[in-house]
Amino acid sequence: MSTERTPLIAGNWKMNGSRAEACTWAEAAVQAAAGASNDVAVFPSHPWLAKVAGILAESRVDLGGQACAAEPKGAFTGAVSAAMLAETGCRFVLCGHSERRHVFGETDEYVGASLAQALEAGLEPILCVGETSEERAAGRTQEVILRQLDAGMAHLRGASDPLVIAYEPVWAIGSGQAASPAEAAEAHGWLRARVAETDAERAEGVRILYGGSVNPDNIGRFLEVPDVDGALIGGAALDPNKFGAM
Ligand code: 13P
Repeated sequence: MSTERTPLIAGNWKMNGSRAEACTWAEAAVQAAAGASNDVAVFPSHPWLAKVAGILAESRVDLGGQACAAEPKGAFTGAVSAAMLAETGCRFVLCGHSERRHVFGETDEYVGASLAQALEAGLEPILCVGETSEERAAGRTQEVILRQLDAGMAHLRGASDPLVIAYEPVWAIGSGQAASPAEAAEAHGWLRARVAETDAERAEGVRILYGGSVNPDNIGRFLEVPDVDGALIGGAALDPNKFGAM
């Protein structure tokens, strides 16, 4: 964790929670964030965004969408546009979360187009990258995550476009088997160095979050890594006590 980059602790609720639970989790996040020095964001399921936006109003907690479409509007049943997320009060949107890539078949091209839509709508994209266990075993981690990074960053329109990066190894998500801090340090170092190749200033400032089985017991070890600027948390974000502790 660098002293110049404010850490971002983000809770991705995925497809979890009733409306009442979403309200409880949001209220708990508001309370926990009140005394925190880091940034906090939550990513509810789309139907709860408007309700949660009301709870987060005037608080230190930002709202994010879990995904947005690669097109601005049209006949895309079930999809949600970046502009809709922005109008609902989102600051962030996840682009290319591993579950979008591997369960819903989003390609690098689709993820890049959704990132472009996010920027057009005034959202801050959180570009998610990560290798599968097979890719890691084959020694392809660096190649895969840099390919995913390049494909997303190609859609930045200029140096002032906002960007957050999340390194989430697919094998660490929901498995209880987090990457080691050394593995995160290596991957985050590759990602920051790649950003520096085209924009040294952005590389200094860009926040790179770690995600994958983060919990109150291990988060401290990740945040000690100089290139880790926060966490993207799934399962443990569904427990208000755990999320508050982190
Ligand atoms: P877990 O924290 O449940 O492993 O999920 C990580 C994740 O996918 C956050 O986006």
